[in-house]
Amino acid sequence: MEHKNELFALILAGGMGTRMKSELPKVLHPAAGIPIIAHILKAADSLSPKEMGVIVGHKAEVTEKAVSEGLAAWGISSKVKTFTQTELTGSGRAVQEAMPHMKGYCDVLVLCGDTPLITGALLKDFYQAYKKSGADAAVLTAKVPNPYGYGRILKNSKNLIDGIIEQTETNKETAEIAEINSGMYIFSMKALASVIGGLKPNGPKKEYYLTDAIKLMADGGLKTFACAAKEWTFILGVNSRVQLAEAEKMLRARKIAELQMDGVTIQDPATTYIDDSVKIGRDTVILAGTHIYGNTEIGRDCKIGPACVIENCSIGDGTEVKFSCVLNESEIMKNCAIGPFSHIRPNCVLSDGARVGNFSELKKAKIGAGSKVNHLSYVGDTEMGEGVNVGAGTITCNYDGVRKHKTIIGNNVFIGSNTNLVAPVTVANGSHIAAGSTITDDIPAGSLAIARARQVVKEGRYPKGT
Ligand code: UD1
Ligand code: MG
Repeated sequence: MEHKNELFALILAGGMGTRMKSELPKVLHPAAGIPIIAHILKAADSLSPKEMGVIVGHKAEVTEKAVSEGLAAWGISSKVKTFTQTELTGSGRAVQEAMPHMKGYCDVLVLCGDTPLITGALLKDFYQAYKKSGADAAVLTAKVPNPYGYGRILKNSKNLIDGIIEQTETNKETAEIAEINSGMYIFSMKALASVIGGLKPNGPKKEYYLTDAIKLMADGGLKTFACAAKEWTFILGVNSRVQLAEAEKMLRARKIAELQMDGVTIQDPATTYIDDSVKIGRDTVILAGTHIYGNTEIGRDCKIGPACVIENCSIGDGTEVKFSCVLNESEIMKNCAIGPFSHIRPNCVLSDGARVGNFSELKKAKIGAGSKVNHLSYVGDTEMGEGVNVGAGTITCNYDGVRKHKTIIGNNVFIGSNTNLVAPVTVANGSHIAAGSTITDDIPAGSLAIARARQVVKEGRYPKGT
């Protein structure tokens, strides 16, 4: 099939990742909440290539499964296919084995699976520069403060590349070259096909280096163009856990800067962890030590933290989540107040103005508008109406040792302190429960339920105590 003028994006993810010293393939290590390779797929996807290919090798099935299962969550819209590298003998070998899968394309963008800081904008600039240059291949390069470990770029006066020298091949002089190979290339398919078969084993491990394809092109009189990245940090590769932590820090700083530019106050960026997928509205303040993960959406004028952990939640405008709260997979509507020290477990819904306070834990609970669970409570498998006041120490006894049962509480119910609600049980609108009650039977609307032993006073029993 002919794909005139069309781009194929190939991501190399087959390497052993030896320097990570890990059972998990390198490209699957998370950086800022998603696997390293997801960052590369997202950036490449924004170029809208006709097709993308991920070449897997070391622990191929694990990488393949994680990629195919993750695509939707990472918002990848291009068609992605994975194929397996049978001989794990270098980046050049990976491209050799990919060739039959890219037949008929005009150009191929080759990316490494280990550069999570790359952005779609940078790749777009790179692609445009390649097109404009009329070159047969372009290499994205960068001048870095510490070039150790990277391939060094040998250039001639016309900004064309003569060759790329890998770290192990450098001598005193070439080791000083600050311009390095990012591991990102665009090849015209025709030029690539003319040299890829000619790679020879190279370096201490006798591998097929993709970088040698550039040298073969230059030697054959083809135009190999060096395109310098505007921002060197965007091309950093992750080969060790030290570099992983560095990349993570930069990704997080980038997200925080974006939020700040959009009008969010981040009290202490150094201790704040916010996933790329998180959305936060204007004039919301995020206090120190807060972690916000996954598909979390926070509205305007909220105040979150310090030291909260929020994952996959939606939080409406004007809500405050105070010190040391943990919130998971729940919907919190407008003007709610949570914490300090509250735990909102999955599948809770707090309607407008609801309040959950100190040492209260909620699970699968609907809390109606303006209702309060302010002190020391456990509320689970519960539907609660509006205007309810839950007294301190109230517990829904939702588990009988075998099954979970529901507690239904109507509107404007008053629940006295230290009440046990033994589910299944229904407490209808407007009813009151006396403090210290253990409620086992349904309570009709508008009634008072007292379920505790009467106090007995035996006068004079302990005369010594007087
Ligand atoms: C590579 C480049 C180097 C560049 C650097 C940028 C080569 C020879 N060197 O070095 O010039 O400065 O990236 O980060 O390419 N891979 C496979 N199959 C293999 C081997 C590797 O798919 O058999 C993949 C890896 O998963 C990785 C990428 O190719 O995503 C690069 O391999 P890596 O070992 O990280 O190369 P570097 O030493 O970083
Ligand atoms: Mg690398």
